[in-house]
Amino acid sequence: MTAPSQRALSRLTPVLTKRWLSPDAWRLDVYERLDGYTALRKALAAHPDDLIQLVKDSGLRGRGGAGFPTGLKWSFIPQDGKPHYLVVNADEGEPGTCKDLPLMMADPHSLVEGIIISAYAIRANNAFIYIRGEAVHAARRLRHAVNEAYAAGYLGKNILGSGFDLDLVVHSGAGAYICGEETALLDSLEGYRGQPRLKPPFPATHGLYGGPTVVNNVETICSIPYLVLGGAEWWRSMGTEKSPGPKIYSISGRVVNPGQYECSLGTTLRDLLELAGGMQPGHQLRFWTPGGSSTPLLTEEHLDLPLDFDSVAAAGSMLGTTAVQVFSDKDCPVYAAYRWIMFYAHESCGKCTPCREGNYWMVQVLRRILSGKGSHADLDLLLDACDNLLGRSFCALGDGATSCVTSSIKYFKQDYLDYIEGRKAPLLSPNEADLVGAH
Ligand SMILES: Cc1cc2nc3c(=O)[nH]c(=O)nc-3n(C[C@H](O)[C@H](O)[C@H](O)COP(=O)(O)O)c2cc1C
Ligand code: SF4
Repeated sequence: MTAPSQRALSRLTPVLTKRWLSPDAWRLDVYERLDGYTALRKALAAHPDDLIQLVKDSGLRGRGGAGFPTGLKWSFIPQDGKPHYLVVNADEGEPGTCKDLPLMMADPHSLVEGIIISAYAIRANNAFIYIRGEAVHAARRLRHAVNEAYAAGYLGKNILGSGFDLDLVVHSGAGAYICGEETALLDSLEGYRGQPRLKPPFPATHGLYGGPTVVNNVETICSIPYLVLGGAEWWRSMGTEKSPGPKIYSISGRVVNPGQYECSLGTTLRDLLELAGGMQPGHQLRFWTPGGSSTPLLTEEHLDLPLDFDSVAAAGSMLGTTAVQVFSDKDCPVYAAYRWIMFYAHESCGKCTPCREGNYWMVQVLRRILSGKGSHADLDLLLDACDNLLGRSFCALGDGATSCVTSSIKYFKQDYLDYIEGRKAPLLSPNEADLVGAH
């Protein structure tokens, strides 16, 4: 393993992760010793509109996948006298993504502090953290932090004598990927089956219980205290002009040291690989996702692509959740696409036909190809199924499912042909019962 270059090291920006190595930073007394809740005091002395302006000026873009400008989202909340809500999306279901869970485990009070400041800015007196059902450990840690914050007067009535009241509830979901989609999440939080709602109207005007609601990702909200303390200009000193700030990239797969690396937005895969100790011995980079399985695959030719929202979009993919999954020459892109489509078929909520049927049938076709029974027409069939999903499904789950299929055919058509034309040994048996979970 070679040491990272100075260039790669200079990309590291430990902002949200700065307390991760401090022992017991999840405890309130330690958090307070490490500057915790100083941003809250500063924020409560400011006018809520000035906080919204600060977030707008910083250029902070949502970290949940779509990169929507956070300040703009907050400014959509109408001043109509109705109860407003802040909902934190802690579902983190996108395959390969692992940044919100470590944030909540290592530094739960930074999320609580971010929530109080954000709720104050949008004039919400009730906030919720919707956390993935399986993340029992993180939910326990969050609930502990919330109880500590209530006892210390950071939550509840008249917070720090400011006259601002806030109640915060930690709600565990039941572990469904679709409940990360913001409107399905709201339905689930209200006690209904989690399925996406028609948009418009958007949650900003018709959200939780029909009231104006901001839904933001964990990493987005955790950014707020640092932004309040450091200011918009400091935030913009990191990243690129249109994607400012630090970002937690989670790297997994065929690298020596998988994990979370917080870097300026716009860091390249070449630098991230250096920070992660390089490829595992005997493995050569073949394909990778820049932001989870819903983002089209990239290849070795994209090693120097700046990983910010606009550059990745210009290269035909998406930054998504910055879940960088690294695959090597020992991995098969057709098999990877098959496993991902099994995931989408399983997680499809069934509300709309293109996604419910399309993913199911794509599993069958991919399986046929991987078992050596495919034909050339199957490639057209896959592309046709994707064409009927992309832009035609009710929510972005359906769109995202097509990414791995279309991009693997774009870059690795020969791999498909090798199975179809018999040059590659079948990976699956057509009769194997490993379709469990695909339907
Ligand atoms: C199928 C699906 C799953 C999603 N899962 C998550 C998730 O786990 N966490 C998240 O923050 N956003 C997720 N999103 C995006 C949310 O709908 C929403 O855009 C996000 O929470 C907004 O937060 P942000 O503006 O801070 O990025 C998902 C979207 C879709 C379509
Ligand atoms: S695209 Fe899939 S997940 Fe989204 S509403 Fe349709 S069936 Fe449900």
